[in-house]
Amino acid sequence: MADSFAMNGGDGLNSYKQNSKYQGEGFDEAKVLLRNSIREKLTIHKNSNATTVTPVFKIADLGCSVGPNTFACVRALIEAVKLEFKAQGFETQLPEFQVFFNDHVANDFNTLFKAFPVDRTYMAAGVPGSFHGRLFPKASMNLMHSSFAVQWLTRVPQEVTKEVSPAWNKGRITYARSESSKVEEAYAAQFARDMEAFFTARSAELADDGLLAILMPCRPEPSLPSESTLMNILECLGDALADMVKEGLLSEAAVDSFNLPIYVPSASEVEVVILLGTKNKNLGFSIERLEEMRFPAKLSSAEEVRVSCLHARAAMEDILCKHFGSDLNVDELFKRYSDKLEEFSKSPRFAHIKNLANLFVLVKRN
Ligand SMILES: C[S@@+](CC[C@H](N)C(=O)[O-])C[C@H]1O[C@@H](n2cnc3c(N)ncnc32)[C@H](O)[C@@H]1O
Repeated sequence: MADSFAMNGGDGLNSYKQNSKYQGEGFDEAKVLLRNSIREKLTIHKNSNATTVTPVFKIADLGCSVGPNTFACVRALIEAVKLEFKAQGFETQLPEFQVFFNDHVANDFNTLFKAFPVDRTYMAAGVPGSFHGRLFPKASMNLMHSSFAVQWLTRVPQEVTKEVSPAWNKGRITYARSESSKVEEAYAAQFARDMEAFFTARSAELADDGLLAILMPCRPEPSLPSESTLMNILECLGDALADMVKEGLLSEAAVDSFNLPIYVPSASEVEVVILLGTKNKNLGFSIERLEEMRFPAKLSSAEEVRVSCLHARAAMEDILCKHFGSDLNVDELFKRYSDKLEEFSKSPRFAHIKNLANLFVLVKRN
């Protein structure tokens, strides 16, 4: 399995740029919370004659993709910081802003750079590389943000791809409908390892009192990992692949060895990872905000199913093509996916689990 993949680049019909409305709406929902909690928790360092000691305020968006959502996030972050500087009497001493846009090396940074807002009020730089490792110098960053990115794992947990393993995930591509609960356990353990690496890197990079805000899909509590609506929606892609195997369009072995490196945690799983990391590895974080926001799935009309398919294709096409190569007819797969999704949206299982949720977390480096 490739460990670096990208959302569809460019600005064509299947691009992430054209098909990331849901993530944009998720961010809009969380914006007031983000703005208010940054303002509440931001510490503005001053020297003895009451002038600020932050001439350059450094911000990063981790997993920025190709826009336009990253620009809306950065605008909101800068607005919140400026408002707080002004509220504390530093109207005439606003810092300059430097913004780092991070994503995997395979991300379409050219399309991102070409789309920079003409009226931007910050200096910008691209930072290619995985956010599961170090990206910035020690104690250099003031505010870091990531939306809808940390659910992507560094890799598919190895156990689920091995025929001899009790966690072998034969015929399925996520843990949503696996035969063994060992599969979801393997995914949960991989998520915990990856998040520990993520927080360890941020702990080194954030300056004292620096803030880290994360927005990500989560599953509402109380529910099992397999009851995540998002994972069940993605598993419909597994159904489409299974049909293609039955019809001889793909090999069974190729489908058996394909799994998505995605995990949707509960709020408490994320909380535990942060608390344990802070305790065992001395990461120095305090959790300032942890809030789950529920919203209904949008699959009630043919148009909503179509939009949902386009979103899935913009995010999954690269990883699917890397695995299946030229054997895969991507148009055919997503046509079938659309049918499977429609079927799922009318099923009793969907009716039972149909709440989606996002999690907002704000932590402070102490
Ligand atoms: C669904 S997109 C979200 C993009 C944007 N933040 C938004 O809200 O629209 C997830 C992005 O995270 C990136 N990503 C996933 N894992 C990553 C990693 N380990 N390091 C850097 N970027 C990563 C993906 O390449 C992708 O561009």
